[in-house]
Amino acid sequence: MSAILLAMTGLDPKPWHERFRTLAPQRDIRLWPEQVGRAADVTYACVWQPPPGLLAGFPHLRAIFSLGAGVDHVINDPSLPPVPIVRIVDADLTMRMSEYVALHVLMHHRRQRRYDAQQRERVWHEHHQPPASDVAVGVMGLGVLGCDAAAVLCRLGFRVAGWSRTSKQLPGIETFHGAEGLDAFLRRTEILVCLLPATAATAGILNLDLLRKLKRDGAANGAYLINAGRGALQIDADVVAALDEGTLAGATLDVFSTEPLPATSPLWTHRNATITPHNAAASDPRALVANILRQIERCEAGLPLEHVIDRAVGY
Ligand code: NDP
Ligand code: OXD
Repeated sequence: MSAILLAMTGLDPKPWHERFRTLAPQRDIRLWPEQVGRAADVTYACVWQPPPGLLAGFPHLRAIFSLGAGVDHVINDPSLPPVPIVRIVDADLTMRMSEYVALHVLMHHRRQRRYDAQQRERVWHEHHQPPASDVAVGVMGLGVLGCDAAAVLCRLGFRVAGWSRTSKQLPGIETFHGAEGLDAFLRRTEILVCLLPATAATAGILNLDLLRKLKRDGAANGAYLINAGRGALQIDADVVAALDEGTLAGATLDVFSTEPLPATSPLWTHRNATITPHNAAASDPRALVANILRQIERCEAGLPLEHVIDRAVGY
């Protein structure tokens, strides 16, 4: 007996359950909490924000699959069994993120929020528009998502740099790494795109001190922040302060330290903030269930699982 458990909070389980049953009708698919059945049968768990302690209850678990690219929602459970944790790497997710990054970099670059405000006032007024080749965009996190977004931005003509933990070489992209490379990366960056994972090392990295190091006197006419990584990376109050003092001319935020963003947050109404509900790259079961089933088949065929995270670094 080998069962696949689906355990998620904060996501609608129905489309996941249906997709698993459609693509793998021969498999025993169990939906937490109603259909867990005999815990000893469960060999694979597909999870999003599972309750802490849940996964420790399955003695024959062989792998845990995150239903997204990030694993911070599962890795912080101290009772997690010592089985591989696999994250999603999929063209569908990557494309969604690159769309989001391109949309918001271009929105700031093309001053679209100003034109939206002008439209409301019926104002016909053109602002100076620099070419993309004069604007420096910096991508924090050069992983699967960061690399693709950086390549798309390069194709759009921006001057793109990236920052990662370890050293990288990427065609057409200036690269920086580690604590020693961070200041130089920030000093040349006008539009900062954050696609880092939430780990102990990245918690609160998007703070006022860091934001003040961004380049404000470049062609973009100010500094901008786009955070689609995780809310734990940013100090919300520091982003508000940076917008208020002019350190940031604008911010696009998809993720927050508390989600949903509380109605009382000043970010909702800040005239230079653009808020989206953690949907920069939504996990779509139509694309991702096949990806997970393919990995389970690999495991059953004795092949190594792909995209297993390194628990020591947290991503
Ligand atoms: P990867 O694991 O492929 O890449 C992570 C990148 O971050 C790597 O380049 C890594 O460096 C870098 N990094 C990690 N820690 C540090 C550090 N301490 N200092 C500098 N760089 C660091 O992840 P993905 O690209 O697939 O995804 C990135 C994140 O995007 C996810 O973890 C998730 O939080 C977020 N996400 C958000 C979504 C949304 O809808 N808002 C959707 C999907 C993902 P190195 O290359 O040297 O290892
Ligand atoms: C992810 C997410 O990590 O959706 O994939 O945030």
